[in-house]
Amino acid sequence: MNETFLKACRREPVDHTPIWLMRQAGRYMKEYLDLKEKYDFITMATTPDIAVEITMQPINKIGVDAAILFADILLPLEGMGIGFSFDKNHGPKIHNPVRTKAQVDAIKIIDPEEDVGYVMEAIKILRKELEGRVPLIGFSGAPFTLASYIIEGGGSRNYVHTKTMMYQEPEMWNLLMDKVTDVVIVYLNAQIEAGAQAVQLFDSWVGALSPRDYVTYVQPHSKKVFDNLKGDVPKIHFGTNTSTWLNLIKEAGGDVIGVDWRIDIGEAWKSIGYDVAVQGNLDPTVLLGPKSVIEKNVKEILASVGNRPGHIFNLGHGIIPELSVDNVKALVDMVHEFSQR
Ligand code: CP3
Repeated sequence: MNETFLKACRREPVDHTPIWLMRQAGRYMKEYLDLKEKYDFITMATTPDIAVEITMQPINKIGVDAAILFADILLPLEGMGIGFSFDKNHGPKIHNPVRTKAQVDAIKIIDPEEDVGYVMEAIKILRKELEGRVPLIGFSGAPFTLASYIIEGGGSRNYVHTKTMMYQEPEMWNLLMDKVTDVVIVYLNAQIEAGAQAVQLFDSWVGALSPRDYVTYVQPHSKKVFDNLKGDVPKIHFGTNTSTWLNLIKEAGGDVIGVDWRIDIGEAWKSIGYDVAVQGNLDPTVLLGPKSVIEKNVKEILASVGNRPGHIFNLGHGIIPELSVDNVKALVDMVHEFSQR
């Protein structure tokens, strides 16, 4: 089995830098679009056989060093009593955004087997399919990012409703965050028990906060997640727009800290300390090409971290649908070739 990803998470030496890509399965790939002709997104994510097939697509096609379960951070919402749907090409939509105390009180803590059993089922099948190949990463949204969808009702620019609750109703905010945090803990622990060999906490939108507000309103909850995860699988803590306060992300927890492209990754690592591994940090749009530009960026990122063990190559955020499989595959090959020890 290709252990380079798990070794790098543990900061052990490897013969080449491992690479996987956020959103490595998805609309840039023809095999995914073919399936999407037949099924809607929720059906694909909640039907184990289809989720397994999509998870395997980038393993077979582009040769990454880890698989990430095909699912979505919003899947646990249903079991919490929060209905949502994915409108075609408009992203997620929560039907009744949570803004009152009564709505917060009504939120349920999920029973992973009952409410998202299809995720555990997919993980078990994947471990067999992946045997002798690459490790499997499970994931969850982080408390802030999930809460922002639950309160706003979808994506957001200024997080007006979220911050209104945070500032004006701090007790309600904490009650909501406590509940979301408990969900994240049971959900990730169920994935670990089912066989996930690493987990990533996606706090994709937490960079909307000032560092002071992060410490006051969010960090204790994210820390509680990391303090309560079982097993000795590596934990990855990812956020974007957090490069000026990565130290606070690290304080909350994680063996590997995700770094977006708004900072030099070597500088980021130096600033947070070498007692954690780092993951990142190519700007996804660099993959629009040409290959010479991709090559230049790959070499610069590898040079920036040097030969220090504990770097996992990734993008600074997810793959976008406009990218070509050819360029994504070229990236994977370049990282492997140029990082050969
Ligand atoms: O990385 C992977 O390959 C695993 C699969 C994965 C998906 N979503 C599949 C998906 C993962 C890890 C996620 C996490 C996720 N979902 C996040 C955190 C990561 C990030 O990108 O910051 C967030 C914020 C979501 C919420 C979400 N899901 C949004 C905003 C959207 C719509 C935007 C878009 O790209 O269409 C989704 C839908 C979604 N999740 C798609 C995929 C492949 C696209 C659905 C489609 O086929 O139309």
